[in-house]
Parts: sequence; structure tokens; C-alpha cells
Amino acid sequence: IDIKTLRGVTKGVTTIDPGYKNTGSCESAITFLNGEEGILRYRGYSIEELAEKADFLEVAYLLIFGELPNTDQLEKFHADIKKNSHVDEDVKKIVDGFPKSAHPMGVLSSLTSALIAFNPSSVNVDSEEEMYNAIVRILGKFPVLTAWAHRKRAGLPLEYGDDSLGYVENFLKMMFKSPSGEYVSNPVITEAMDKLLILHADHEQNCSTSTVRIVGSSHAGLFASISAGISALWGPLHGGANQAVIEMLEGIKEDGGDTKKYMAKAKDKSDPFRLMGFGHRVYKNFDPRARIIKKAADEVLNDLGVDDPVLDIAKGLEKEALEDQYFVDRKLYPNVDFYSGIIYRSLGIPVEMFTAMFALGRLPGWIAQWREMRLRKEPIGRPRQIYIGETHRPFKDIEYR
Ligand code: ACO
Repeated sequence: IDIKTLRGVTKGVTTIDPGYKNTGSCESAITFLNGEEGILRYRGYSIEELAEKADFLEVAYLLIFGELPNTDQLEKFHADIKKNSHVDEDVKKIVDGFPKSAHPMGVLSSLTSALIAFNPSSVNVDSEEEMYNAIVRILGKFPVLTAWAHRKRAGLPLEYGDDSLGYVENFLKMMFKSPSGEYVSNPVITEAMDKLLILHADHEQNCSTSTVRIVGSSHAGLFASISAGISALWGPLHGGANQAVIEMLEGIKEDGGDTKKYMAKAKDKSDPFRLMGFGHRVYKNFDPRARIIKKAADEVLNDLGVDDPVLDIAKGLEKEALEDQYFVDRKLYPNVDFYSGIIYRSLGIPVEMFTAMFALGRLPGWIAQWREMRLRKEPIGRPRQIYIGETHRPFKDIEYR
């Protein structure tokens, strides 16, 4: 049966599939994933080639509009994003209202939602032009909000970007500019960050992306859908895993740095401990993103001359796991989160910001999936259930309960 016919079927058999492990929620032409063979492609282009040859903004354009941009298209896209990177001054007051300890993901989700009040025309987007305007607005403002979430925690003044810089470099400057305005650019860091963002840019119908599509299917608007996606990404079973890796490594260090003890713990079936950053639900041979990012991690660590006992523990665990029969038998390899946490840490990004960095990278994927869903005029997402509660009961007055 073709999908258009299926759309009209409302009286079919209701199936149940916890976690939607075997249920396709949509047709999509954006990202292809083959977990057995370790293949990841955006719009048909391999992740390896994109990470090597394209920059993050080109990849964002590719994901959203379906083709790699030519020079004019890329310049216009970047210029439109820059034109829309101003965030209303009143949003700063909202940032000021958060406690310094607020988790950046909560701040980001709230601020993205708050943006709707300052950009009401971004809600009802029926034409492609209106969609485009909403897209360049969120791509312009989101890096500013992410940098502000960091600066608020760090007690630094909230800054705007520098239009003369590329998208990623501009973001790094907004993050790290000192109160006196100093920022030293490092091409190795910028390139590693660019790669990390590309590798995180889309991963088909994961939890946050499905959330964006389902919220967007009610025509709630792009910003509201992205805000919901950020909340979904926050969880430790999803985007929060990169934070969990570094927290685990720090725990091992504080306990004396004995990696063998933790390898044994991970293999002990009576102990719930798992080696965070190892294994993947979909990739059972290797995570193609991890291969790319491992190389970038090595380059960044070398370039920065990083000497950090936590990173030594990471290298030790990686080596031991790759040679260990338990891990080999179960095809447990370091995943992208293992290395991304290591890079973020060596760049001086605080651990609570790791998931926010993931959100910045995933933004183009969320946008692309939302746009595809709206252009295909998909119906509102509304799963059914198997009811397991009480059958009909007569009402009981309060004195008899
Ligand atoms: N450490 C030790 N043992 C592990 C690990 C690990 N990290 N991961 C899986 N195993 C073992 C399990 O105990 C199980 O062993 P058994 O067959 O003897 O019972 C076997 O490997 C298979 O594990 P499952 O849980 O069935 O594998 P699943 O595909 O469901 O889980 C997951 C994948 C959740 C990623 C898992 O490997 C894990 O918990 N990893 C650590 C957390 C992590 O890094 N998450 C980030 C994933 S990447 C991302 O989301 C972007």
C-alpha cells in the first residue's frame, strides 16, 4: 500500500511497539543510517566526506534544503543568518532572571520558547518564504542563546557576535571572549568544533527529532518544536550521555585512577555499572562518527598539549576495552559521545554545557526534519494505545472512598 493510502486508514489494527523500535513514523529523504555496516549519510553524502570537505553551515544548508549550496547560495544563507542574529534586549532580562546554577539545557529550552514572544511572525509559517524566514532567525539566534547560557553560568557579561567571522568561529568567540574583549582564534579548535557539529547534525528519527516532528505536526511553529526537542535531548539516555562520560572518568580518577577495576566492574553482571561512552543501540560494528572524531580528538589534544589525568584515564579505558574479549564479543566500541566529551573538556567547555553543544549541532537536523514534515503536509502525530485500566465503574461519593 502506498503511504498516501495509509494516511487515510484510521480503522486499522492497533499495534504496540514500546520505544517504537520497529515502527517507522514517517518517510524521510534526509538521513540514511545502516547500523550493521556503520554507514551514515546526509542527503546521500557520506558523513566521512562531509566531515572532511564541508563546513557546518554547508551541511546545515544541505540537510535543510536537500542540496549542497553553491557559493552564492551559501553567501546569501550566511548573510540572512547574520541579519537575524540579534536577540531582543528584553531576552537578556530573562537570562538575568535565571539562577547561576540553572542547567544550560533548561535555559536554552526556555529561551527558545521565549523567542516566540519577540518573533510572533515565526509561528504561522505556511509558505516556503515564511519557513525560510523562521529558519534563518533560529539559526542566527540560537548560537547567541547557547553562548549566553554558558556566560551566565560563568558569570561573564552577555555578548553579541562578530559578523566578520564564520558561523562556528563566531560562536566560539561569543563563548570565550574575555570581559575585556580578548579572544584568541585557534584554527585547530575551530575545525574540531566544526566537525563535531557536523557529526551531530542529524541522526534520523531519534528521540529529540521525533519530538520536533510530532510537536511541529500540530503546527505549533518552529521555535516551539525546537524548544521541545531541546528538552528531549537533555536526558542522560540521549544527548546527556556526553556529560555522563566525563563524570564517569572524573569518578574513576577520584577513586585512584584504576581503570582495570572499572573494566571488571563493567563486566560484572551483578553490578549495574556500564562503561559510559561504549556501545550503541543502532551501530553494532562501529560508530562512523566516532572514527572521525577520534582523529580530531587526537589532533586537538596534541595541538593544545593537553596534560589532563582524566584524559589519560579515557585513553587507558579505550585501549583496554578494544583488547578485551567481553567488549569484543559484544561489539562494544567507543561511541561519538566518548570522544566528544573529551574534546569539549580539552577546549575548556564546562561539563554542564556538553549537551547544549550537542543541541547546537543538532539544530539543522531538527529544522530539516520539521521543514520536511510541514512541506509533506503530514497529519498531526497522534499514536493510539492499548488501554489496560479499569473497566466502567460507578462514581463513588467522597464519604465512601
Ligand atoms: N559497558 C558494559 N557492558 C555493556 C555496555 C557498556 N557500556 N553496553 C552494553 N553492554 C553489554 C550488556 O550488559 C549486554 O551484555 P549481555 O549480553 O552479557 O547481557 C550486551 O552488552 C548488550 O547490551 P544491551 O544493553 O542489550 O545493548 P543495547 O543496544 O540495548 O544498548 C547502549 C546500547 C544503551 C548504548 C549501551 O551500550 C550502553 O548503555 N552504553 C553506555 C551508555 C552510552 O554510552 N550511551 C550513549 C550512546 S550514543 C548516543 O546516544 C549518541
